[in-house]
Amino acid sequence: MLIRTPATSQAKESDVTPEHLFRARRRFLQLGAGSALGWAAASSLAVGGLLAPVSAKAREVEMLKAAKWPGSTDEPPTTLKDITTYNNFYELSTSKDGPQHETENFKPAPWSVEVSGLVNNPGTYDVWDLVKKDQLEQRIYRHRCVEAWSMVVPWVGVSLADVVKRLDPQTSAKYIAFETLLDPEQLPGQNRQVLQWPYVEGLRLDEALNPLAMLVVGVYDQTLPPQNGAPIRLVVPWKYGFKAIKSIVRISFTEEEPPTSWNRSAPREYGFYANVNPGVNHPRWSQAKERRIGDFLRRKTEMFNGYGDEVAGLYTGMDLTRSF
Ligand code: MTE
Repeated sequence: MLIRTPATSQAKESDVTPEHLFRARRRFLQLGAGSALGWAAASSLAVGGLLAPVSAKAREVEMLKAAKWPGSTDEPPTTLKDITTYNNFYELSTSKDGPQHETENFKPAPWSVEVSGLVNNPGTYDVWDLVKKDQLEQRIYRHRCVEAWSMVVPWVGVSLADVVKRLDPQTSAKYIAFETLLDPEQLPGQNRQVLQWPYVEGLRLDEALNPLAMLVVGVYDQTLPPQNGAPIRLVVPWKYGFKAIKSIVRISFTEEEPPTSWNRSAPREYGFYANVNPGVNHPRWSQAKERRIGDFLRRKTEMFNGYGDEVAGLYTGMDLTRSF
């Protein structure tokens, strides 16, 4: 693997909550001091400050709300720098520190997403009509890559379930399929056939309706940088990271299981389900442990990435060694 010295992230310092403040706020909340604000106060204040400057108070409220969201962990978040400089985005580069350097032609706005298939509200939606700014939430999720590294990421986005419900799939729809932008001008890695382009992914509809699945538009309190999948990506925290398709331009609802990029490329190595499972090894390496970026020692990988209480029921009766 090629390792180069990472350059500074493209995120402007002024765009983000300084990390020490972010961490201090998390500690403040863990100590319970934040509870004086109360949940009712949190609900009545807009959390849509992602793109506009927000007051310190509003940011506290944002954090408080984050702590209450399903799946949010209290583990310390990975630094913004690591999250934005150690990436997998093959349409930009196949090295981990490459994507951040290949973003100059990428235009995340304006951006629309085409919705089609077995759905009652098909159409072409501006990204900010699909994701309502006043519904943005911050959730701190573990992010486990199939290559056995992991991070803890404060994502900002909305429940995929809410978007799916608004789009209103027809009763015959059993799956949801996603597609990344196909444009080698903007995504120069598409000039090389390392995968079949565009990148495609999918979920069973009941997985998509699980409250943990998110459509993400931000990280910490800035919009997603291109290398993290601007302007809109999927996050499914109990699955390996390759399910988390970036820079989505198409969503469709289908009756048949849709093709997925890594499964199409190496079906023996990457399944459709891709649930984090320390008991099912990748044919070329163990999945029992992972290296949290920023840590020295490896840690044990948890079944469903630690989200079993919320998601194990989706797979009752399935043999997860076969449906991997
Ligand atoms: N989406 C697209 N379109 N192209 C990719 O190469 N890589 C996947 C996923 N989404 C990928 C993608 C993989 S393998 C992982 S681990 C995550 O993105 C990495 O997300 P991150 O770079 O934000 O950590």
